[in-house]
Amino acid sequence: MNVLVVGAGGREHALAYAFAKSASVDRVYAAPGNDGMVNYAECVNIAETDQESLVAFAKEKAVELTVIGPEAPLLQGLADRFEQEGLRVFGPGEKAAMIEGSKSYAKEIMERYHIPTGAYASFSAYEEAEAYVRRQGAPIVIKADGLAAGKGVTVAMTEAEALQALEEVLKDHKFGKAGAEVVIEEFLEGEELSLMAFVHGEMVVPMVAAQDHKRAYNNDEGPNTGGMGAYSPVPQFTQKDIDEAVEKVLQPAASGLVQEGAPFTGVLYAGLMMTSAGPKVIEFNARFGDPEAQVVLPRLESDLAELLTALLDGEKPEPVWSEEAVLGVVAASKGYPGSYEKNLPIARVPESPLLFFAGVEKKDDVYVNSGGRVLLLSEKAATLGEAKKQVYEKMKELDTNNLFYRTDIGFRALQ
Ligand code: AMP
Ligand code: GLY
Repeated sequence: MNVLVVGAGGREHALAYAFAKSASVDRVYAAPGNDGMVNYAECVNIAETDQESLVAFAKEKAVELTVIGPEAPLLQGLADRFEQEGLRVFGPGEKAAMIEGSKSYAKEIMERYHIPTGAYASFSAYEEAEAYVRRQGAPIVIKADGLAAGKGVTVAMTEAEALQALEEVLKDHKFGKAGAEVVIEEFLEGEELSLMAFVHGEMVVPMVAAQDHKRAYNNDEGPNTGGMGAYSPVPQFTQKDIDEAVEKVLQPAASGLVQEGAPFTGVLYAGLMMTSAGPKVIEFNARFGDPEAQVVLPRLESDLAELLTALLDGEKPEPVWSEEAVLGVVAASKGYPGSYEKNLPIARVPESPLLFFAGVEKKDDVYVNSGGRVLLLSEKAATLGEAKKQVYEKMKELDTNNLFYRTDIGFRALQ
């Protein structure tokens, strides 16, 4: 069959890689794709927001399965549109995707279906939010309600920090419409886990777990980013811990959305804090995590296209996962997640089947940076320690004049 991947980042590059490996797949198309995935996919220059052209393209190329990578087109109703056109698509409709699109909606769902999460309140008026912060005290977490590319969250260790974050969101409108409301959340202590599942209505097929490193600098310091590296498996947690999270979080979320009349089809991602009182949800995403996809998909041994079509047909697939470990490190533009200069040359990039491009373009045969997170290199090995060693060895081949990366990805598993 022919498949189409919508999106242009590292996650979509990993999807193209997984489809290229799938025996049932004839052609992999990516819209718009990126310059790194040309070995895996034929890229077509259609924006992920251009519904009209995407539908026309899928029809013209007899695409039998489309996977939508990023959240923005999902929240614009791209999956709904494909369905209306009778095109098979793996990704939630606009209504179900709101579990990611609005943090206060996600909180309502969690409350209604008894999904464990931190206590919270949401506000749109600064004065009320300020009074709440003063009552609760620090540490406390301030989140812009809408989409902010992973940057709308401040974990405030002091009241002053919390108030400054409130000001930025509600007074300075740093996140525009996404920050019309803030969710103020209880600070949760524990270790984080990213747990994703293939979901179709009530059916929940968990993937292997991963851990992301959200902070910009080593030792989990510095500002939050979209993610600076990830690895899978996460040996700090047992299969029992993971099963508990599926049972308490992913399954009730999927069933809850069915009851809400917004059944979810696609990847449901739970960002969890594994607290002493069990797993608690930090966030839901309506898609593969980035960079989690780049370390989880390389462990998938099943044919991804077959797996997804079985699921869409209502048959519960049983994916086979490699016992090997995968660890991936992101290289980002110097200055990210703050402002950074674009179009700076990257003279050398490492070579690997698991090198995934994000904010990088080829201009006149030279690579230049075009985004914050530029690329991610994963390696797969018998152990996490070995995978880490191999990745960092290969990262030496990267020209880092204009880039930086963390040198401690996986430290919580390997210390
Ligand atoms: P989010 O975008 O909601 O995933 O938040 C980004 C990061 O902020 C998370 O990965 C956590 O590291 C941190 N974070 C978010 N919410 C909380 C919380 N309630 N308690 C502690 N840390 C949090
Ligand atoms: N890595 C976190 C996310 O994709 O939102």
